[in-house]
Amino acid sequence: MADVRRVLEARLRTAFDVVSPGADPVLRPSDHADFQANGALPLARALGREPREVAADVVAAADLDDVCASVEISGPGFVNLTLADSYVAAELAAVARDVRLGVAPVAEPRRTVVDYSAPNVAKEMHVGHLRGTIIGDALCRVLGFLGDEVVRENHLGDWGTPFGMLIEHLVDVGESEAVEELSVGDLDGFYRDARAAFDASEDLRERSRRRVVALQSGDVETLRLWRVLVAESVRYFDDVYRKLGVLLGPDDVAGESAYNEMLPSVVSDLEAAGLLVESDGARCVFPPGFENREGDPLPLIVQKSDGGFGYAATDLASIRDRVDRVGAARLLYVVGAPQSQHLAMCFAVAHLAGWLPEGVEAVHVAFGSVLGPDHKMLRSRAGRSVKLSSLLDEAVERAEATVAASGRDPAGSRAAVARAVGIGAVKYADLSTERSRDYVFDWDRMLAFDGRTAPYLQYAHARIRSVLRRPEAVAAGAGDAPVAPSVREPAERALALELLGFEAAVRAVADELAPSVLASYLYDLATAFTAFYETCPIAKAPEQATRESRLLLARLAADVLALGLDLLGIEAPDSM
Ligand code: ARG
Repeated sequence: MADVRRVLEARLRTAFDVVSPGADPVLRPSDHADFQANGALPLARALGREPREVAADVVAAADLDDVCASVEISGPGFVNLTLADSYVAAELAAVARDVRLGVAPVAEPRRTVVDYSAPNVAKEMHVGHLRGTIIGDALCRVLGFLGDEVVRENHLGDWGTPFGMLIEHLVDVGESEAVEELSVGDLDGFYRDARAAFDASEDLRERSRRRVVALQSGDVETLRLWRVLVAESVRYFDDVYRKLGVLLGPDDVAGESAYNEMLPSVVSDLEAAGLLVESDGARCVFPPGFENREGDPLPLIVQKSDGGFGYAATDLASIRDRVDRVGAARLLYVVGAPQSQHLAMCFAVAHLAGWLPEGVEAVHVAFGSVLGPDHKMLRSRAGRSVKLSSLLDEAVERAEATVAASGRDPAGSRAAVARAVGIGAVKYADLSTERSRDYVFDWDRMLAFDGRTAPYLQYAHARIRSVLRRPEAVAAGAGDAPVAPSVREPAERALALELLGFEAAVRAVADELAPSVLASYLYDLATAFTAFYETCPIAKAPEQATRESRLLLARLAADVLALGLDLLGIEAPDSM
């Protein structure tokens, strides 16, 4: 409804179709008008005609009277389109009345499983897990807002051979000692010590081997000890999730171990389908199209030569479970780019086996790495992986200092604002980067009050709220007066068009699985607001109608910023 650009595009498409079926209008925002359609130029070239004539034919065929005030052909054959003020005002007024701010739900909601975060038990989450958690969470929020039925699944690494070693180490240090260590979140310390002891002692290695067997055969005491490790880790991960303010919780855990019982049938069904090949004692599938550097076919190992099932078998079982039991129409895997081949092979095998039926889509939502100042993988000073919970604490501490230094003192709520700003800064730095790209983790840049940062957007939002709280603004309806907003001034108009683009930005996040589109949209919106606020006085405007109209624009800007940030999982305090 609110997306005037889409309306314009659709009308132009119809007109271009008349001239040449399927031709693209190539619509862009423009400095000369509201929008410009450049499609007549490539079309003229294709048809061997004069571009201005093609443009004239398009304009003649176009039905734009109710939405455009002027449609002009300029230069070599551009079509400049200026929307009718009344149309923009009416659409904006509709957005102002809509709790969804113009973002209609999708026509056909899909049940979507989002596999994200997925840290490994008794191991510190690394920054890759941080990225996956932030991106996955934003996607869950956006898809949920658009009406999809979102099922979050945290595919915790909670099974496999290392657990023999970890359980024996737990027994050696004493259960309560181990719990103590894990409960303060020293997962890496525990893992490192276990590893060092394992490397140093043949006896421990032997016990670990036996322990894995006991674990796999369901020995009651071994399972109890395993559960201690899992529970303590989940408690720590949940701590990180709470600090981070993500939707993910203990109920969303669907760890690797949850699929254990399904693994034998994964193998036997692949066998029955004639897809299994024995290679060096392991049972594998060779999906067509996957080769190593030498050009040899690549195996997806489903069962190792010792009979154990691996990571791939579990992923295959989880695909079946998500399709058959959960009933998902779409599976999203928010997992780092290094696992692209693994996931592509799992999807390919699932297709071959008929486990991903027509109409069910599986997508690897891959993302790049977080780098340190040296442009290598972000590490702590000791060269170890960064402890996430301390990283988040540091974000909040630094934000507190930044907020204090900026002289913006939100009386009484400094701690809450610091939390919103610190965590928001970490999230926005991540989400505003195109997902497939790497980025450098830089405290100063992400916490700056200007530029593409959370603090800039949060401050823009809080400033508008404070304008709306002023007595003269309250007297004029604080942006809630039922007026048709005026969009005559260029800055009013630019802000209005930006506001009407919210729906398109939110939809693009869902269609392209790209939170960065919304992140940059919000930055553009805040910039448009700043320009508007500098050139279009609100309280000093002579007429009541202008004051009400400008307050409406301001209120909508604040509402869209707050909702947009919320969809990214970022808080927007009302004052700061
Ligand atoms: N636990 C894995 C890791 O830390 C990530 C799991 C991703 N999800 C999946 N279904 N494979 O690398």
